[in-house]
Order: sequence, then structure tokens, then C-alpha cells
Amino acid sequence: MSTRGAWSSRAGFILAGAGSAIGLGNIWRFPYMTGDNGGAVFALVFLIFCFLIGYPVMIAELTLGRHTQKNPVGMFNSLSGGRPLWKLVGGLCVLSGFIIFSWYSVIAGWVVGYVYKTAVGTFETQLSNEAIDRIFSSFVSNGPVVMLLHAVMIFMAAFVVSGGVKGGIEKFSKWLMPVLFALLILLAIRSVTLDGAMEGLRFYLYPDFSKVSGVMVLKAMGQALFSLSLGMGTMITYGSYLSKKENIATSAAWITSFDVLVSILAGFVILPAVAAMHQSYAQGPDLIFKVLPSIFGSMPGGYFFGLGFFTLVIIAALTSTVSILEVPVAYFVDERGWSRKQAVAFVASLAWLIGTPAALSHGATEFLTRLPAIGISFFDFISTAFGDISLSIGAFFIAVFIAWIWGVSKASNEIESEGNSFVIRGIWSFLIKFVAPIIILAVFLYTIWTTFLAS
Ligand code: PHE
Repeated sequence: MSTRGAWSSRAGFILAGAGSAIGLGNIWRFPYMTGDNGGAVFALVFLIFCFLIGYPVMIAELTLGRHTQKNPVGMFNSLSGGRPLWKLVGGLCVLSGFIIFSWYSVIAGWVVGYVYKTAVGTFETQLSNEAIDRIFSSFVSNGPVVMLLHAVMIFMAAFVVSGGVKGGIEKFSKWLMPVLFALLILLAIRSVTLDGAMEGLRFYLYPDFSKVSGVMVLKAMGQALFSLSLGMGTMITYGSYLSKKENIATSAAWITSFDVLVSILAGFVILPAVAAMHQSYAQGPDLIFKVLPSIFGSMPGGYFFGLGFFTLVIIAALTSTVSILEVPVAYFVDERGWSRKQAVAFVASLAWLIGTPAALSHGATEFLTRLPAIGISFFDFISTAFGDISLSIGAFFIAVFIAWIWGVSKASNEIESEGNSFVIRGIWSFLIKFVAPIIILAVFLYTIWTTFLAS
């Protein structure tokens, strides 16, 4: 264990896990997906999936990682005796890590740009929606600038993962994440007390079941997994640094609860303000960048709130990118015998290249902004393919693997090692054997049915 490094304490691990989970997924992706997909009903389905699928799969990933002390590929290999199917699943995890890292840092780069804009006073006064739109569009369609900021984020993550300031960042986020949380509460209060916010609250809190569709349910499931950092082996890798003394079920419960809470709060910040500003809910990835400036412009001290908030979001994003990057890096180090620095340099450069079309798909090039045939941006395409679909496939196989290949009794023994209690043993076994895999499969079939066959 000592040669692979380990978390210093229980709190240290929960913090690192929460640091991975809490990020742009909560603050940027959850509000816009909720806006795009019908409001409250999406949030409700998301919540259900977090606890029915997310929580049991998080326990599964941490357990598999701790037992084998390996990255996803190594873990599947050693527990399945090298069977090809499981090699493939491990490979999918590493690939998802690569691709998600590449586009996630594009958005984190936008936030860096917004720190700068806020710092120079762009949002100090209340601007019109048109002015905010113009600022955003000219920023994200500026190819060289977004590519540069993308590179900045990749570089920062690469620096941390190659061993730079890992200890530092953990200590940092111990203090900063509670501040982010407090800021979210203040912003939510500001937002719900804006004139006209009620309509947004209704949108967020009263489910309209006519909005349920296959794609919507698939996206809610993908978002639950994305937000909890599941389905691509992040928690397997993090679990591999976890000591036998830790209680996996309790740690996973804390991480899941924190993460869900932050998403729900972010919804209270963004959606009421959308209504108050007479904007549209369905603005895709642009949403928070068009709403937050208005909120800051409308509150006393907005300059400092804005600056603080965007800075904290970068740190939250950084602790997540670090955990995403860790998966492909751990693979090259453990399985291919590369040095850590080599692996980081390779993955980071390739991710920058792969991320470039995602960076250029918000107006910088017409082709990538509206892909022929499917009519959505390259960014949206890759976000659905790798943020939602591949993570769902990954989670499905992880659940099947631990429940039916390795076996829930071995898993439970691992969880109960060193006398740890596992009160929900029976419930977890049922969820991971039946509920999680069947729901994931059903959602896929339902989506295929409603999208391609039913019309
Ligand atoms: N959970 C992170 C977030 O919400 C993103 C992430 C996805 C991290 C997948 C690791 C693995 O921002």
C-alpha cells in the first residue's frame, strides 16, 4: 500500500472523494440539464438515480479498487482472470477518462475566462440580457482564447497529478469547499428573492410528468453517474488508495449526500434567476454563463461575490479534473510501466488535441457548432456520448461484475474487513445485483424504443 500512496485519514478520503464528485457537474451541468429537460421532473429522476444506482455503484467501485489496489484495467484483469470482455470494459473506462478530461477542461477554461471578466469589472453593473449574450458569444467563439484557456486548465491538472501540489490541494479544498457551499446558499437566497423568481421555483419544484421521455431519463441517469464520478473507474482508482480501516459504505454515503446537496443548491441559484431575468431555461451549456452575471450585477458586493464564486468553481473543477486524469494515468503507470510524468505528459497533450474540436464548437467554427445530420454541436454530442452513455455502460458492467462475477459475499467481506460494520449489506446486495443493472438496461431499451421505434 505505502508504495502507491494512501489517503492520510478518513476525513482526507471523504474530502478527496467529494472533491472528485463536486465540480462543474453540479454547478454547471446539473442546472442546464434540468433546464433543458423539463425542470423538476428531471431533478426528481436524477435524485432517485443517485440513490438507487449511484450510491450502490460507488460502494462497488471503492470496494473493487481497495481489494485489488489497482486501476480499472488492472482490477478487471486480476479479478476476472484476464477475460476479454472485462479487458474491454476496463478499456472503456480509460477511454472515457481521456475524453471526459478533454471536454471538461474546455468548460473549466471558460470559467477561468469569467474570473478575468469579473475581475476587470465587466459584470459590476446590471447588464441587459442582450449585452450578456454578446459578451458570452464573442468570448466562446474566439478560438485562440478558448484553446489557450483549455490548455491552462489541462496544464494545472497535469501539474497536480504529476505530483506537484497534491497535498496542498487537499488542504486547500478542506477550507475552500465549505466557503463555496456558503456562497451557493447566499446566491440561492439572492436568486429566489428576485422579482419574478417564483415561476422559476415552480419550474424546479413541480414535476411536469408529460416531459418524461427516453432521452430525458437516460440523461438524468448519465448525470447522476457523472456527478458522482462513477462509471469510468475514478472511484475504483480512488478506492485503491483507501485503507482497510475505512468504512466504505459510510464514506460513500457522505460523498453521495454532499454531492447531491450541492447540485440541488445550484439549481436554486440558477433556475429562479432564469425566470426573473426572462431568459429561456433551455440554453444548454451556456446557461450559467448567461445567468450568473445577472445575479452578480443585481446584488450589493456582486463584484466580490462574482470573483470569489468563479474562483472557487475553478478549484472545484480542478479537484474533479485531477480525479478524471488519474484514471488514464494510473493505467499507463500500472499496466504499461510508464513513469508518472511520462503518462501525464502523454495523456494531457492528447486530451488537449482531442478537446480542441469541443472548444471550437461554440461558434468558432460553423461545422462543429452544428454537426451535419444530427444538428447539435460537437460538444453536445461528445458530452452525451461520453458523459451519459459510456458512463451508464460502465456502471452497468461494474455492477454486473461485482455482483455476478466476483460475487457480493466476497465484496461484503472486503467491506467488512477490520471489523467495519455494513448494516445495509442486504439492501446493497439487492440493489447491486438486480436494481442497478436492470434499471440501466431498461433505460437504454426505453430510450431506443422512444427515440427510434415508437414514432
Ligand atoms: N463528478 C465530477 C463533477 O461533477 C466530474 C467527473 C466525472 C469526475 C467522471 C470524475 C469522473 O464535476
